[in-house]
Amino acid sequence: MEQRHPDGRTVVVSGGTDGMGRGIALARLGRGDTVVVIGSGEARGAALMADAALLGAARRCRFVQADLSSIAAVERAVEAITREHPVVDALVLCANRLNRTRRESPEGLESTFSLYYLSRYLLGHGLRFQLDSADNPVIVNFAAPGLKVGSVKFDDLQAERRYGILRAQAQCGRANDLLGRNFLQSPSSRARYVLYHPGFTATRGGVAHLRQPARGIITVLGRVAARSVDQAIAPMVELIDRPPADRLTAIDRGRQVDLSLRTFDPDNARRLAEVSRSLVLTHHGPTQLLPEPGEPGGPGSAGGVH
Ligand SMILES: NC(=O)c1ccc[n+]([C@@H]2O[C@H](COP(=O)([O-])OP(=O)(O)OC[C@H]3O[C@@H](n4cnc5c(N)ncnc54)[C@H](OP(=O)(O)O)[C@@H]3O)[C@@H](O)[C@H]2O)c1
Repeated sequence: MEQRHPDGRTVVVSGGTDGMGRGIALARLGRGDTVVVIGSGEARGAALMADAALLGAARRCRFVQADLSSIAAVERAVEAITREHPVVDALVLCANRLNRTRRESPEGLESTFSLYYLSRYLLGHGLRFQLDSADNPVIVNFAAPGLKVGSVKFDDLQAERRYGILRAQAQCGRANDLLGRNFLQSPSSRARYVLYHPGFTATRGGVAHLRQPARGIITVLGRVAARSVDQAIAPMVELIDRPPADRLTAIDRGRQVDLSLRTFDPDNARRLAEVSRSLVLTHHGPTQLLPEPGEPGGPGSAGGVH
């Protein structure tokens, strides 16, 4: 069981082995926190652990290897985290991957949906008791609030009829807007929820799916036009120490996003929560990652999903 540093927080970062998640993990280790990083690649996990050791923080850093596009793997990751960490002060959601062609998760769901949206829904609910045990808990979801492109295609959520890489990403961006919105209406934990659009940021993830010469062009463009990881993450590194008072905040590159935008439609938010719950039950079965009926955020709760 973790021995908490009196001043340090416990931070869980999904997709914390590369890009902005890795930046947040190292920055928070540098501030004395205990950091649990989830990623799918063993080599990236080992590299992160080596960087943590260089900071003198190896004992405060833990790598949990999990393919978060799998519901079963999210469940195992949450079990591993909750065994060691009864208190989680911050959950930072960064895991994402761009798939050129349609892929399915181990449970048969479209992989972008499963990773970029569903794992975030499940991690937020699955760690609710650990977050509720912290003094000032916060969930930071790195996505794209403020953008209006794309929509949640309730009639083809798994992109079986039509798949496109940008369409799949945009759908998940909007789904994460609705996830935040539903959290506001029907929270499953006391945590503050922050949706954050970092802007175009120079990471590998943004170009990995491209073929040459597009990959080279975007990489060069990135050097000129993109923000550095340090610039992009700085406000969120700070925010973990002082979460906002509001239950839901959406920030697009430093600007507060108006929560009355149609991308935060409360009815769509309720509908997506309901569909997500039944997808998990159908493709995986009952799990502690879902709030129970009557629990905050569960079916039948006040303002919850009916
Ligand atoms: N970069 C931008 O310009 C930009 C702009 C707007 C929004 N965003 C959003 O910000 C977030 C972070 O972006 P980024 O560019 O920093 O990402 P990134 O550099 O591509 O890093 C993605 C992270 O997710 C992990 N990951 C990928 N597939 C996974 C899986 N199946 N299971 C577990 N972990 C997995 C990766 O590690 P492994 O490969 O080892 O699993 C890596 O640690 C994303 O949600 C992205 O949509 C980024």
